[in-house]
Amino acid sequence: MTHKIILDTDPGIDDAMAIFFAFQSPDIDVLGLTTVYGNVPVTMSAKNALTLCELADKDIPVTKGVGMPWVGPESGYAHFVHGDDGFGNIDFPASDRQLDPRSSAQFIVDMARQHPGEITLVAIGPLGNLALALRLEPELPKLVKGVSIMGGAAFVPGNVTPVAEANIWNDAHAAEIVFAADWELNMFGLDVTNAVPFTPDFLDELESKNAKLGGFVKQSSQFYVDFYSQNREDRVCFFHDAMPLAHLTHPELFTLTRGHARVSTDPLNKGQTSVAPIGSTMSPLWLEATEINVATDVDHDKLRQLYVDTYALA
Ligand code: BDR
Ligand code: CA
Repeated sequence: MTHKIILDTDPGIDDAMAIFFAFQSPDIDVLGLTTVYGNVPVTMSAKNALTLCELADKDIPVTKGVGMPWVGPESGYAHFVHGDDGFGNIDFPASDRQLDPRSSAQFIVDMARQHPGEITLVAIGPLGNLALALRLEPELPKLVKGVSIMGGAAFVPGNVTPVAEANIWNDAHAAEIVFAADWELNMFGLDVTNAVPFTPDFLDELESKNAKLGGFVKQSSQFYVDFYSQNREDRVCFFHDAMPLAHLTHPELFTLTRGHARVSTDPLNKGQTSVAPIGSTMSPLWLEATEINVATDVDHDKLRQLYVDTYALA
């Protein structure tokens, strides 16, 4: 079965790895890349998405989306993780392809209306585009098949603050709108993504299976590995963003826990994703909170093999 998706992204090194995984997968049909600020400013995010499409010979729409959080000033960016260019400072030539003129939110709404009930929104950056799409089309939850995100930290610490993960922290008000909407939402947060370190031999293998796309991931990941290997003995990095895509095609690799969820927007806990597993509370306020599915376990070896095998496909 082929899954039609819109991939909402802020490339970003692990975004690039995830985008190529989606392009390579025979079971995923990417209708477009919708970009958002996050790891880098939105203009760079959009340009980078075009560059990745050109490298992969993929002629699909790429849109530019929100450049600011729902509330508050412009965000800081994660150049210290992803490099000045979002690709680990590799000086890769930028594409001169053109963006689709629509905003990311408008593109999401247009596609959802065109393919009612068929599209899964996969969001691997901050959630402003999805929140805005919900404002443009309040019936959006009925028009899409579901939503899968990389973001959050349910039962583990955050990576930006003690309680918050970067994508949710970056636009907590937007995330709260997306979490509260009446759609089936699967969350792949640090509970699973930080549990799966990838060592340099994985990057070598991706390159050996796919010189062009795997080679790009390996080259751009050197800076990313340096960042993640500070204060540890081994050299590793984390490919957070590919997980919701891997779940789409291989759900059997994951354990998901259903629970009531909220996103905090108060300054101290900004971006905290609090989850009460079903049956764990009788608190009326918690019972009112929307139910989502949170990934709590993943088969590392099979996931690694899936990535390698998918990159190896012609
Ligand atoms: C998330 O934040 C970004 O740095 C990554 O691309 C990923 O989407 C991990 O917290
Ligand atoms: Ca990302």
